[in-house]
Amino acid sequence: MRQNVSLKPYNTFGIDAHAAYFAEFSSVAELRAVLEQAIPPVLILGEGSNILFTRDWPGTVLRNRISGIEIVRRFTRRLWVRAGGGEQWHALVMWAVQHGLGGIENLSLIPGTVGAAPVQNIGAYGIELKDVFISLEALELETGRVRRFDRQECHFGYRDSIFKQQERGRWCILSVTLSLSTDKHRINTAYGDVARILAEMGVARPAPADVSEAVVRIRRSKLPDPLLLGNCGSFFKNPQISLSEWENLRRHYPDTPHYVLSNGLVKIPAAWLIEQCGWKGRRVGNVGCYEKQALVLVNYGGATGQEIYALAQAIADSVRKKFGISLEPEVNVL
Ligand code: EPU
Repeated sequence: MRQNVSLKPYNTFGIDAHAAYFAEFSSVAELRAVLEQAIPPVLILGEGSNILFTRDWPGTVLRNRISGIEIVRRFTRRLWVRAGGGEQWHALVMWAVQHGLGGIENLSLIPGTVGAAPVQNIGAYGIELKDVFISLEALELETGRVRRFDRQECHFGYRDSIFKQQERGRWCILSVTLSLSTDKHRINTAYGDVARILAEMGVARPAPADVSEAVVRIRRSKLPDPLLLGNCGSFFKNPQISLSEWENLRRHYPDTPHYVLSNGLVKIPAAWLIEQCGWKGRRVGNVGCYEKQALVLVNYGGATGQEIYALAQAIADSVRKKFGISLEPEVNVL
């Protein structure tokens, strides 16, 4: 256990907050051992790619380094893969496509760990983690007991799960088991530019590896690399409004992009709302709204978490004023 440790290398916003105590663990036994000495409150950290520190952490930060990827069951056209919570998510995607497995190729290049993926039910280009999720194993921080959560028990929603709601902060996710296809893959190229990029690549019948490559190209062209420019991907969720709110909005702004959802709600791209308020590409001191994707807030270097949070609030205020829509952070603000 180290004391007064800078978290700057451990969060992709690159915020120089400090943890009073800090340790890493690579196994359940190590986790149990560090928990015995840990001063509360305890925070489990993966790669810190969806977290904004607005203050120092007064207790103990524990970084999950549990690794390993293994095939645990085989079926005719699918198999179950279990990955350690500390594995990099993208490394798991690369492992899958290199083995010819399908199901998570649309989730290529998402920063973060495997253990963090279920917490916000990561999603991109028409696929969410829940679509391939079988179960996870988690350790209860208070008692040290390990239990399994299946898909229903995780209460997955849009960028949401039980681990962001009533079970928030209570569990460390040790491993995640996914079901991947070995054959007859369900290739999904319906979202945005995926089909166009595949056509540009000259691929007519894409394999999972081709879709992965197309998604990597799209993400590289739109989203900043956290190693070069601090960020946490989308800062806000895309808001969902009722049909009557939508009717009212379209009367004033008929060109608003929108997607009618199966639950009767209408999803509006937050990036569009933010761009209409004039924020896209705008810099305020050390922080800014990314020039190529308005939903991404960036740290140009040396920003505090408070500065980023103040920018987020200013953006949310102007969207509320102009459109009457409240933006909710997707990133965990601590
Ligand atoms: N748009 C703008 N201005 C912009 C960017 C986008 O007006 O600067 C509008 C366009 O109408 C565009 C629409 O927003 O068609 C959607 O944009 P995009 O495809 O880039 O996706 P997004 O809704 O902004 C979501 C996820 C991303 C994910 C992409 C692709 C959320 C909060 N974000 O972004 O996830 O990669 O779709 O599936 O749902 C993340 O969660 O950190 C993340 C990056």
